[in-house]
Amino acid sequence: MVKICCIGAGYVGGPTMAVMALKCPEIEVAVVDISEPRINAWNSDRLPIYEPGLDDVVKQCRGKNLFFSTDVEKHVFESDIVFVSVNTPTKTQGLGAGKAADLTYWESAARMIADVSKSSKIVVEKSTVPVRTAEAIEKILTHNSKGIEFQILSNPEFLAEGTAIKDLYNPDRVLIGGRDTAAGQKAIKALRDVYAHWVPVEQIICTNLWSAELSKLAANAFLAQRISSVNAMSALCEATGADVTQVAHAVGTDSRIGPKFLNASVGFGGSCFQKDILNLIYICECNGLPEAANYWKQVIKVNDYQKIRFANRVVSSMFNTVSGKKIAILGFAFKKDTGDTRETPAIDVCNRLVADKANLSIYDPQVLEEQIRKDLSMARFDWDHAVPLQQIKAEGSSEQVNIVSDAYEATKDAHGLCVLTEWDEFKSLDFKKIFDNMQKPAFVFDGRNVVDAVKLREIGFIVYSIGKPLDSWLKDMPAVA
Ligand code: NAI
Repeated sequence: MVKICCIGAGYVGGPTMAVMALKCPEIEVAVVDISEPRINAWNSDRLPIYEPGLDDVVKQCRGKNLFFSTDVEKHVFESDIVFVSVNTPTKTQGLGAGKAADLTYWESAARMIADVSKSSKIVVEKSTVPVRTAEAIEKILTHNSKGIEFQILSNPEFLAEGTAIKDLYNPDRVLIGGRDTAAGQKAIKALRDVYAHWVPVEQIICTNLWSAELSKLAANAFLAQRISSVNAMSALCEATGADVTQVAHAVGTDSRIGPKFLNASVGFGGSCFQKDILNLIYICECNGLPEAANYWKQVIKVNDYQKIRFANRVVSSMFNTVSGKKIAILGFAFKKDTGDTRETPAIDVCNRLVADKANLSIYDPQVLEEQIRKDLSMARFDWDHAVPLQQIKAEGSSEQVNIVSDAYEATKDAHGLCVLTEWDEFKSLDFKKIFDNMQKPAFVFDGRNVVDAVKLREIGFIVYSIGKPLDSWLKDMPAVA
């Protein structure tokens, strides 16, 4: 029986391996992690991550051919194929700080594999890594290999949080990169055979190692670029009276461009886009390509601009001051159907409003109070490091921030409300009831274009939607940065 082990039981390792176990009942799959609380949660009724459909998949296989364990070394020792899906954060210190990928976790996983292995193994890069990481990993493994053969494959993951199970069941493609040697091709075939249990073979793309590694960074950069492009358009729409939804529709119906990923918003978030583009920028710089680096830098700059533009719009609309005013924040996760808050635009928007002395009342259907407080007081990029390494700012903003358990409580007596995540439940709120309980004038700032602005204006709200013609009230207020 083939045995697979995955190092790293996070947003990628957990769901990916659960689906692999479900689709390959004759393969034993062990997901291992150094974090005991995380493994305990995977073995409990409350899984450590929220993902539609995930509970069901885990329930069907856990204890049969899917196991979660902290005994990393034992499972690596026993496995034929070892996936590595550990975090690859942005470096916070030293050479390449603020851009380069920190491969500390990856390297320690590779060293451990080299130390404990007594039989040949295929080691699969599942984490998103800089192009040519496989070369470094190969050196670590072969240096300590005691005559054992290791084959390195790159098999980047393209799932999106919130739709991970759907994406894993029906991926657009699976990408496998390997060495162009007989042993490399044999390893590619072994992994292809695993995926072929449920993915049509023509959708399994096999390439060289460097193309596979770079394709993942490229895909994220292209996706984020679309969001920054439409967000840059949204600012111009507000200035000219065009409507970004109409523009996006008109542009997206061009079959060469396509309709997806053209929703204007308060900005992109999530653990990958910014981190991976920064990494790409660093690689361009290291290869002496400053123009290419600057091109991608702009995607991040526009995203930062969009978050700050939104927060400034809130302040300027409310007579240029939010000091002492209650502002409801609806949604904190970086997108709907996930409890993940890594790099969520809500962090920058909330911190900006707190700096202007607003009192925030935050509600998110999936994010716990402890997480929100931590996010609002953590140093940049620290979220992706192991807990003992994280720096929490001593002076918190806790008295200005209140976390509540429903949207009506959040908005009671508030001067304004900001929608920062597109949760479906926000579309069907009783806005008449909310209006009646708010201070007047009552403002809605819709950072996701999910509320029915026409209906809300009829109720009496002053409404700001991203990239839409402005209410006359907002037009008269000071211009925003
Ligand atoms: P995560 O932070 O949720 O999970 C990583 C896990 O690895 C943590 O639980 C950590 O305790 C564990 N870990 C770290 N070092 C370890 C070691 N030496 N031994 C055992 N366990 C160790 O991260 P996530 O989101 O799952 O991402 C993992 C990788 O996949 C990253 O490179 C990311 O860029 C990439 N990726 C993430 C996607 C996402 O949507 N979150 C999508 C596609 C790729």
